[in-house]
Amino acid sequence: MSEKFDVVIIGGGPGGYVAAIRAGQLGLKTACIESRGSLGGVCLNIGCIPSKALLQSSEKYEEASHSFAAHGIKLNGIGLDLPTMMARKDKVVTDLTKGVEFLFRKNKVTWIKGKARITAPGKIAVALTDGGSQDVEATSIIVATGSDIVPLPGVEIDEKQIVSSTGALSLAKVPEHFVVIGGGYIGLEMGSVWRRLGSKVTVVEFLDRITPGMDGETGKQLQRVLTKSGFEFKLGTKVVGATKNKKGVTLQLEPATGGERSELTADVVLVAIGRRPYTDGLGLQEIGVALDNRQRVVVDSGYQTNIPGIYAIGDVIPGPMLAHKAEDEGAVLAEILAGQKPHVNYDAIPAVIYTWPEVASVGKTEEELKTAGIAYKAGKFPFTANDRARANGDTEGFVKILADATTDRVLGVHIIGPDAGTMIAEATMAMEYGASAEDIARTTHAHPTLNESMKEAALAVEGHPLHI
Ligand code: FAD
Ligand code: NAI
Repeated sequence: MSEKFDVVIIGGGPGGYVAAIRAGQLGLKTACIESRGSLGGVCLNIGCIPSKALLQSSEKYEEASHSFAAHGIKLNGIGLDLPTMMARKDKVVTDLTKGVEFLFRKNKVTWIKGKARITAPGKIAVALTDGGSQDVEATSIIVATGSDIVPLPGVEIDEKQIVSSTGALSLAKVPEHFVVIGGGYIGLEMGSVWRRLGSKVTVVEFLDRITPGMDGETGKQLQRVLTKSGFEFKLGTKVVGATKNKKGVTLQLEPATGGERSELTADVVLVAIGRRPYTDGLGLQEIGVALDNRQRVVVDSGYQTNIPGIYAIGDVIPGPMLAHKAEDEGAVLAEILAGQKPHVNYDAIPAVIYTWPEVASVGKTEEELKTAGIAYKAGKFPFTANDRARANGDTEGFVKILADATTDRVLGVHIIGPDAGTMIAEATMAMEYGASAEDIARTTHAHPTLNESMKEAALAVEGHPLHI
């Protein structure tokens, strides 16, 4: 006999586990099916968390090696203990994934360990991790199966010499030359980790700019700062093949628009050209769930697919592939299933690249506003003029606020600078409440803080910043 639940969620990542916790809180009989040995999905196991743990450790190593002296701190014999750094990262991951298990118990969510396949609306067959199978029934099924890496033909990933982000999070030694294919989030974050630990890093990017989709001026500044720190960029270049030998990998390169070939040798190559929805073996096509031309599950404004009772959230549906977007969709969908009427504001989803300086943005870019023909005012304030940034010795970057030329409503905020990822919360909150640039400018900000740059950028929108 199959057990019957109100809600069964397939996938225990940020979308799925948050949906499960919220559904449990709301009194729904809930199960989450996850085939990985631990909860937390890509984000906690092989994504956001291990990458941030290594970014933090490598930043400390770089500071100790290069920045402490300027603060009058003398250190002798700084050394790298990579196994300890990796072990710390692994412990952070284990502690957090165990934390999700605890939250499941606390909210009476059943974790079914295995691989799920939807056999009919309301019916799921699970191939259990420990062997055997289990049939489950649910009033509502939520597909939260996330995403997987986009492979690059001719550059086959072996997770040793040619790695995905997963392999790049666990290299046994620092590569001499670390080549990254793709100048996006993963390439720049993992490139930062290995550069700080001693690698020469080259980024091969197909387009003529890094971080496509990001505000153009901010992206250019990021490229300048990363170049200054030692990154090398080969823009407008495609990788057409790779050959491996004992020593490393030789990549065959070609200009994106065609032309003469060249070669680039590396000890380790990271393929980071994007991610795609993951629905393998789920049975969606068989039961007629509609997918779009990029294989993403099509949902309505209440996250329901074309098949009643089957819903989808997170990386597997359109929108930015970000953990906080998946989490918010999970919580909101659980509330919808419990009869509430919440929504996610897709105009105010922040995005952060955790390089140093960090890059953070929310809302529209200048390019998007120009394309849409929306008249806007821009106010910019550099961290060189912020007292706290000076005191900290972190003056790279700026805050830029874009506001509607007529109403002064904030349409977009772009920050490159120290702790930009934390600072963007203020801008996101302002946009959530429909703030004008003047609202931010008239809000008292504590002194001396980096966030005063947000106030100054808002004053700059009005044409009268105080400290430049
Ligand atoms: P996922 O986290 O992908 O989880 C889906 C889960 O479903 C997986 O655990 C999978 O095992 C399981 N599953 C799939 N199919 C089945 C099945 N049939 N049966 C049972 N289980 C199944 N985002 C940020 O916002 N900030 C960051 O700093 C950040 N850093 C990242 C770093 C890296 C290296 C990577 C790769 C990604 C990063 N992301 C980051 C993106 C973030 O990880 C994803 O947006 C997020 O994990 C998506 O959540 P999800 O719940 O949709 O899916
Ligand atoms: P990405 O989409 O961020 O960047 C991919 C880059 O590869 C782009 O610049 C693209 O132009 C380039 N590219 C595509 N095909 C190419 C080719 N054949 N040759 C060379 N370059 C090519 O994808 P990435 O870095 O793989 O990350 C995937 C997703 O994971 C991100 O889009 C993001 O949603 C999420 N992520 C989020 C993080 C965060 O929030 N800090 C960190 C890491 C990942």
